[in-house]
Amino acid sequence: MVVPSNEHYGWAKEVKEFDDTKAGVKGLVDAGVARIPKFFVHPPESLPAPSKTTLELPTIDFEGVESGGARRKEVVEEIRTAAGKWGFFRIVNHGVPLHIMDAMLEAIKRFHEQPVEDKMHLYSADSRQRVRFNSNVPQREYDSACWRDILTCVFHDDQLDPDAIPLACRKEVQEYVKCMIKLREIMAELLSEALGLSSDHLSRIECMKSEALACLYYPICPEPDKTLGTPKHSDTTFLTLLMQDNIGGLQILHDNQWVDVPPVHGAFIANIGDLMQVISNDKFISVEHRVLAQPVGPRISVASFFTPSLRASAKPFEPIKEILSDENPAIYREFLFKEYYEYYKTKGQDVTSALPHFRINE
Ligand code: OGA
Ligand code: NI
Repeated sequence: MVVPSNEHYGWAKEVKEFDDTKAGVKGLVDAGVARIPKFFVHPPESLPAPSKTTLELPTIDFEGVESGGARRKEVVEEIRTAAGKWGFFRIVNHGVPLHIMDAMLEAIKRFHEQPVEDKMHLYSADSRQRVRFNSNVPQREYDSACWRDILTCVFHDDQLDPDAIPLACRKEVQEYVKCMIKLREIMAELLSEALGLSSDHLSRIECMKSEALACLYYPICPEPDKTLGTPKHSDTTFLTLLMQDNIGGLQILHDNQWVDVPPVHGAFIANIGDLMQVISNDKFISVEHRVLAQPVGPRISVASFFTPSLRASAKPFEPIKEILSDENPAIYREFLFKEYYEYYKTKGQDVTSALPHFRINE
């Protein structure tokens, strides 16, 4: 971690003052700040150099996939290639109605834009709280904060008491999550088939049966060159399904180049998480990505992070036996989801992957 040279500028005091407002980054913008507080400033090496490439991530059309046959084989093949080479792909014709997606984006905007008094009771840094609003206040001195606010709703085993969901977006979140569960089941089948397994394999091991819904709000940033919306990271999931509005700013690291992921109305972005990379024994890859801070906004995005059911979390994960052979021996040891997650958290803003820690012979 790079420590800023002017060490004692009152980091903790500045962070606490911000945290105490319970108004998030949006609160700063509403107060009209022209300069971002210092704890939002990221070290120069983490900041974006302009993206030079015009590469496009793959788009996969799910039209006809339900009917099976040759069409399904084609889609499975496209998924195998995209998940193995990019770790990210766009999905169109996925069956989630456009009006549900648009209503969800509107509702999340409404949640974040309601008066502070109506959302501050949910403001919390306690990750055990199933529904919470927070703003990524750095926990460790000199970690940098990000220019975004988040409403998180956690569904263990697909369940969350509807009354716990904020009224501003309750109906839309419930509708959206129903659709995400359906799409997750389709993805589980297609990813299983892409690994050469029976269609129900991933569903059976319940590796994606819990869901954390991150409802992100990236306000306009007065100094976008100094900070980030979301810093470079890979996801701590098996699978992530992301919906973004029309602002843009998401980039993925592909072959050592930052590639823009421009918005496409009605499309989802699917990405492989670290744990899917493990159980696929590196057949699928978990790729680093980030979101720029921008002079335009607000930008809304909704990430559905799929993680194991409570039952599956109690047992260790390891590369799937059926895909291993003498030529393709296990690269990772077995470990509990919790062990991985705890280790990931200790890394703070260390930008390297957590996966080498679980590799055999490393
Ligand atoms: C994340 C993430 C991307 C986005 O929250 O893990 O990568 O577009 N979000 O908000
Ligand atoms: Ni992510």
